[in-house]
Order: sequence, then C-alpha cells, then structure tokens
Amino acid sequence: MPDTAANARSVPYVDFPAQYAIEKADIMACVEAVFSKGEFVGSGIIADLEAALADAVGVGHAVALNSGTDALILTMRALDIGPGDEVITPPNSFVASAAAIVATGATPVFADVRADQNIDPTAIEAAITENTRAIMPVHLTGRICDMDAILAIAEKHGIAVIEDAAQSFGSQYRGRSSGSFGVAGCFSAHPLKNLNAAGDAGFVTTNDDKLAARLRLLRNHGLSDRDTVTEWGTVSRLDTLQAAVLLMRLEKVGAVIDARRRNAALYQSLFANSDVFCPLCRAHEFNTFHTFVVQVDRRDELQAFLMEKGIETAVCYPTPLHLQPAAKVLGYKAGDFPVAEEQAGRILSLPVHQFLSEDDTKSVAETILYFHL
Ligand SMILES: Cc1ncc(COP(=O)(O)O)c(C=O)c1O
Repeated sequence: MPDTAANARSVPYVDFPAQYAIEKADIMACVEAVFSKGEFVGSGIIADLEAALADAVGVGHAVALNSGTDALILTMRALDIGPGDEVITPPNSFVASAAAIVATGATPVFADVRADQNIDPTAIEAAITENTRAIMPVHLTGRICDMDAILAIAEKHGIAVIEDAAQSFGSQYRGRSSGSFGVAGCFSAHPLKNLNAAGDAGFVTTNDDKLAARLRLLRNHGLSDRDTVTEWGTVSRLDTLQAAVLLMRLEKVGAVIDARRRNAALYQSLFANSDVFCPLCRAHEFNTFHTFVVQVDRRDELQAFLMEKGIETAVCYPTPLHLQPAAKVLGYKAGDFPVAEEQAGRILSLPVHQFLSEDDTKSVAETILYFHL
C-alpha cells in the first residue's frame, strides 16, 4: 500500500463547479426557454417534467413541488393526517421526515433501524397503536427499505405507507422503483441529490388520482380556478426554471447513478475484509448511492485525519432525531433506539459523486485503510 498519509489527493465531497462546466450550454438553454417566454410560475415545462417523472418512477402521476419537505407535508395533509394521529418513521433520518409529521399536527413515533440504516419492520410492528395512520419508511442513502415486510404490516393494520424517497430517485427493490410502493413517494431534488435542481425542489409520485388532484390544489392556495378557493392551501409550487433544469438533468441522471454505483462498488471491494463496515448491496436491490456510508470506530478522529489530507466527508446525521432538543416534548431518551444511536457515532459519508476518478476513490479508501493500520 502506498504511504497514503503523504500521498493522499484532495477530494471534495461534492463538485458543483464540475457539473456546471459540462452543462453550461444546457443551463443557458433552460434560462433562455424560461426567460424568453416569461413563464416563471406554472407552464408547459412543469407538465412535461411531471409526465417524465411519472414515467421514470412507473406511476400514474407526479406532482412537482418546491421541496421534499413540502412533498411530505402536503401528502400527509392530503391524506387528512393531523392532530391525534401517529406516523411511524426512523430516528436516523434528516430532520425533515419528523418535522413534516409535526407540521401537520400529528406525532412522529420512531422505530429503530437495522445494520443497513433502514427502518426495522419488526420495530414498526411494535410501535403501532390505535392512533397510527401511516408508516413513513425513509430509503436512506439510496437503498430502499424492506418493502415486502413493510407493505404486509401496513395492509394487516389498514394504514398508509408514505415513502420518504428523498434520497432514492432511481433506486429499485425487486425491480420496482422507489416512490411506487406506497400511496405516495415523496422526493427531494435539492442540489445535493442525484437528480438535482439549482435550488430547492421536490415532487410526489402516486397512482392515486384523488391524491394527485388534492396535492395540485394544496400547492396552489387551494385554488381550483383563478378565483375559487376550494380549501385553504399554501404556495408549494415548483419554479419553472427549476423544472427546466430537472427536465434537462433527468436525461443525464442514469449516467450519474452509474458513476456513483461504480465508485461504491470500488469502495466495497477495497474495504472487504477490513475494519471498515459498509453494508453490501443485496441481490434484489439496485442502490443509487445518494451517500456512501461507512461505519467505523474512532469516526471523529478519522474524519479529522481525512480533512487534514483534503478529503471532505460528512456525517448524516450525528444526532438522532429523538435526541434533538426539539424532540424533548416527545418524551424519548438515550437508549430508546440503540442501533440508530450506535450508528450515529460511527457513520461517515465518503465522497461518491459522479466526478470522482478511479484514482480519487482508491486514494480515499487507501487513506482510510492507512488510518486503521
Ligand atoms: C430523507 C430526507 N427526507 C426529506 C428531505 C427534505 O427534502 P428537501 O431538502 O428537498 O426539503 C431530505 C433532504 O435532504 C432528506 O434527505
């Protein structure tokens, strides 16, 4: 092994300038298409994007929204989930999953995760009460949760499944796409996501005609026409400019995912038989690696060591949601979700983006292995 402590190359966690460099003409074409018509809010571009997204996910409808967070909130509102209701979700997600539940007036009920960081169906079943209205599995890192088991539990108890698919556009489980399992799939197209806008963006996928129609009302002030407010809504529309960018990038996202999967496979082979744990891909999974997460002892020391060498990493997320100050009212305590809590101290997201060269990926892996010698 080379003396990587001396030779490590700088590797950024994300590389937006590289994305812009290869897309400059396409981005300018998006600007031209939107500004030349002056249709900044609502247009044929939104409808085109929605049709393309529904097609990509394999569902009847996609509803474009301004963020993944509003995708979650509006979906729950459209399903009349609110005060007195409980929604089961994992404690290791981004804050938006639980915060969206709270925003509807409902209560998040957490269920622990498995070694692969995804919600444990056994823990879901144990958390169900007479107030449970929905299960919100989070397909963390771009790996779909154990949907066979989750759908069976939901059916048995007559409750909805709302997929938090924010991190998993393009992922598959037994040949089915993320966002096509539950009553709705809620996606983020934030700049950090594999399918990324140039700002906040999101969308909901569903086969439910009524749900799609109600989401379209709610995202636009509840207006069923210019002057008729059918119900109180909000402003959660996607900007036309973001829609144009997403439509353009939708054609390229397959190559983005291929590159991330290639980088991930190289990491997995280099970390095999080492102290660096990374959950492998199972035969029925097609994982898209929004993040590539390893689990290690001395995580903070390793992260500082890598930073010294110019290798940027991230921790997604260092404090489980049930232990956040805002969650105090929910009454949880340390020890309630031992797997998520242990992982919070061990997880480290490595650069896995589409602009990494093979040498970059090898250098990151070798520097980590050197640290563990
Ligand atoms: C798991 C998860 N849920 C929800 C969201 C919220 O999406 P947005 O940032 O588009 O509001 C994110 C965004 O990072 C996420 O990772």
